[in-house]
Amino acid sequence: MPLICLLSLRSSDEAGEERFRQTQQAERMATENGIIFDSVKNYYGKELQRTEDCKVQSCPKSKIPSQKHVMEALEMVHEQVSTRHYGCGLVIPEKLGGMHVLDLGSGSGRDCFALSKLVGQNGFVTGMDMTDEQLKVARDYVDYHTEKFGYSTPNVKFIQGYIEKLTEAGIPEDSQDIIVSNCVICLCPDKKSVLKEAYKVLKVGGELYFSDMYADRKVPESVYHDEVLWGEGLSGALYWKELYSLAKEIGFSQPRLVMASPMLVDQEDFRQKLGGIKYASVTYRLFKLPKVRQPARHVVYQGGIIGFPDCLRFDHQNVLKTSEVVSVDDEFSTILSSSRFADEFDFQPISKQDDCCCFTEAVEVDPFQYFAEKQDKGEILI
Ligand SMILES: C[S@@+](CC[C@H](N)C(=O)[O-])C[C@H]1O[C@@H](n2cnc3c(N)ncnc32)[C@H](O)[C@@H]1O
Repeated sequence: MPLICLLSLRSSDEAGEERFRQTQQAERMATENGIIFDSVKNYYGKELQRTEDCKVQSCPKSKIPSQKHVMEALEMVHEQVSTRHYGCGLVIPEKLGGMHVLDLGSGSGRDCFALSKLVGQNGFVTGMDMTDEQLKVARDYVDYHTEKFGYSTPNVKFIQGYIEKLTEAGIPEDSQDIIVSNCVICLCPDKKSVLKEAYKVLKVGGELYFSDMYADRKVPESVYHDEVLWGEGLSGALYWKELYSLAKEIGFSQPRLVMASPMLVDQEDFRQKLGGIKYASVTYRLFKLPKVRQPARHVVYQGGIIGFPDCLRFDHQNVLKTSEVVSVDDEFSTILSSSRFADEFDFQPISKQDDCCCFTEAVEVDPFQYFAEKQDKGEILI
């Protein structure tokens, strides 16, 4: 047989073997993920009945105030829903009127109903969850909230699905203004798929605004198979630095830290198994930006967003005071002008004569250091 044929036979054999290895690997992962999904469904469907049943609590004493309109919306949520809230943060961003919002892992629907109030009759909220019992509670209270908010038709729906497969579950690409999620991605074995799908279904200029549990280091695989540790988000919590690399790989803007607070692991047996890992609840905002960036510019917040007449606290670094001229780098400039915030700002070019230009570039910030500093200043009490 000519040498060239032998070589191509060998390479087609090798390619076949590689395909076989990949299929086997995919099947193994699917089985392992399936076991995790079943265990999480059992945890949130059967084990936990109320918020207090959670074994890990986020520190509730942070002094960052919530806006009045947000508190009012949360207070309007039915008790049967809010007593089954298992989130670890507040996922209510600014400027919600008329927005289409998707909640990943919506549980009993507390955040969705509050968002349903805040987006108004012309907005729409979709909650997605995989657990029957959680979905049932949420769906049972759709009519109650529609009536309570005075809407003629429901502006919220709950669909069953895996958040790793949003498009398969019927969420169209480029359809959402905002995606929120509250303490769910830490329960997902394949975080990259969740973030990739979120990116896909967001509109350009859309935002992923989510709270989740993070660890101060990589959590060892040895604790992955503990059902309670996984169910509480302790085994699957991402090392915070990994969010930055995942976001970059997928194409999101640099994650901007909005809020971080410590998560307290009280149980001694948990602490022993986890060997000193520290946890935090962190809220980040990430944007899907257009390919063409805007240049660095001067921006002026006009003070028009409900609840923020004097300033807009965009993230831990940027508090934009009404009528104040601020120089922003190209990424922040693109975020502001391509998102729902565009109408709320005046944009002015930076001329060569301007000597200020102290841009506020988003930086990677260690959330554990962030709240340690807040604690020192007395802004977080533990
Ligand atoms: C900690 S609870 C949070 C629920 C809700 N976000 C809240 O704040 O109350 C986690 C929820 O995520 C859901 N969940 C976890 N992994 C999921 C996945 N891969 N796809 C869809 N839902 C998931 C669970 O069924 C559960 O309802």
